[in-house]
Amino acid sequence: MTKIAAISDLMKVHNVTDELFFQHQRSLLHYDFKKALGYLKAYEAILLSHMADEEDVLLPVYSERAEYPEAGAAKLYYDDHAKMRAHIGLFQKSTAEIESAPDIDRTLLQLLDREAFYLRLCSHHDRREAEYLYPILDGLLTDDEKRELLDRMTLRGNTAQKCESYENQSD
Ligand SMILES: [Fe+2]
Ligand SMILES: [Fe+2]
Repeated sequence: MTKIAAISDLMKVHNVTDELFFQHQRSLLHYDFKKALGYLKAYEAILLSHMADEEDVLLPVYSERAEYPEAGAAKLYYDDHAKMRAHIGLFQKSTAEIESAPDIDRTLLQLLDREAFYLRLCSHHDRREAEYLYPILDGLLTDDEKRELLDRMTLRGNTAQKCESYENQSD
């Protein structure tokens, strides 16, 4: 009998995105803006797929069947995702344009400041998922249902690979 993967295993994607964002910021600190933009694009690609998996596969089931407290309301996840998408778009624009800014140091500090705010939003969001969305779904779904949902996930299994393949390219 094969072991059923828990829905919560999908939260491992958060470690991959955290690392890519860290690499993006480290490249910014080294004034390597081309690399910073590359890492940010890799980060965006994985995060968007992950959020789409959550919105298209997990959240509809969660909204319909889960009993959750206000702090774990389905709408909050969609709202956070919308804010996250908007921030990433702005960061990409800033990173792409930073070299032509009249004062690069000042522009870089403003960008890092906005990114610090964004990272707090993300860590709140990830905590909300770890406290409600994922454990509630794991408690609620049968093994067959979990298998069916996991089969519909875009990112399942190939996330670490994507991260590595980007890193190899960028060196
Ligand atoms: Fe997530
Ligand atoms: Fe999410």
